[in-house]
Amino acid sequence: MPPMSRFGIRRRLKGAVKKAMGADESSVPTPPAPAAAAPTPTPPKPPAAPSMGAPVAAPATDEPPKGRMWVQAQGVRPDEVIDGSVHQVGIFGTRYALYKTDDGEFHATSDSCPHAGGPLGEGELDGFDVTCPFHSFTFDIRDGSCTSGEDLSVRCIDVKVDNGKVFLEVPQ
Ligand code: FES
Repeated sequence: MPPMSRFGIRRRLKGAVKKAMGADESSVPTPPAPAAAAPTPTPPKPPAAPSMGAPVAAPATDEPPKGRMWVQAQGVRPDEVIDGSVHQVGIFGTRYALYKTDDGEFHATSDSCPHAGGPLGEGELDGFDVTCPFHSFTFDIRDGSCTSGEDLSVRCIDVKVDNGKVFLEVPQ
């Protein structure tokens, strides 16, 4: 056997080291690919809050929220109610103020003024503002806010007109 050159010795040593470590280049494990991100589930959208100021129309679903129900305002025929007028209606012993705007939209609120209980159903309607007959505070009938500067609001009631009848969404 001829004497080995120093390059030959080096090559053989490298091979022996690799063999001893069991790691030639082809067997070096490659790191796993990062796992694909699992799709994030999209949370369901919450139901839209009822719009107190929306024009009167039947809601998308006719089902009122739990604990509430549509009740006909007895004796109220929508085509006979004068535009720009205010009325009191009684349902289950509770009075509500029913408004018909100059544009023919129906709105309703609690009849009881949040200031001192004045009968808003006996108030004056000017556009979307009702004036309480007791102390003349005014309230926007679309959202119940006080438009005369007081930190008060009156509760709005959803209204719909269906088949020639007016319905209010009231507690059961
Ligand atoms: S009770 Fe309505 S303004 Fe006072």
